[in-house]
Amino acid sequence: MLITIPQVLTAAQVQDCREALLRAQWESGQKTAGYLAQHTKSNLQLPIDSALAQQVGDFLLHILHNNPTFVAAALPAKILSPRFNCYQGGGTYGNHIDNAIFSLPQRDARLRSDVSSTLFLSDAQDYEGGELIIEDTYGSQSIKLNAGDLVVYPGTSLHRVNPVTKGMRLASFFWSQSMVRHAHQRRLLWDLDQSIQALAAKDATDPQVIRLSGVYHNLLREWAEV
Ligand code: NI
Repeated sequence: MLITIPQVLTAAQVQDCREALLRAQWESGQKTAGYLAQHTKSNLQLPIDSALAQQVGDFLLHILHNNPTFVAAALPAKILSPRFNCYQGGGTYGNHIDNAIFSLPQRDARLRSDVSSTLFLSDAQDYEGGELIIEDTYGSQSIKLNAGDLVVYPGTSLHRVNPVTKGMRLASFFWSQSMVRHAHQRRLLWDLDQSIQALAAKDATDPQVIRLSGVYHNLLREWAEV
């Protein structure tokens, strides 16, 4: 399941992030590329442990934890500190699947990348190419959103970034370990949640809405690892 969430950041927040990132010292994305990815990855990344990456990343984490649509889609147990990349001058990243497990700064702590996310920090009109192509259950999806918009998709997906042939594509990307490990279960919970929200907007006191809400929480209780 692939979900796009518009305007996770306001225009002013995007501007603040962009200004900070454009002052940063970037390094080659090769540094974090695995053995296979070294042949297909050509972009810039902010060093993971840089103060700026931490600062903007912490700001984004706060926004994400308070975005009800992201929380409903990802059901995050843990979110890896957001990372940042920049594609320009033909920069690209060929087909790959992200690492399954990431080490966290705390001793012996790890994160399983159930859910992948990309937050676009450049407007679609400001560069050519740079589409995020995700192989979904029903075929390839081409994602190119506006600055401040987010896409959320299963960590199990094969994906790539098309070459950026003009302009600059700035983005943040991060992984979440979900309380609900399996994508098909997250999908059922997402569909149920969205329908409950729509029905509740018409009449929140409808006993059927209350009953469905109970079904949602009891399914979550069945499936969640906390
Ligand atoms: Ni990737």
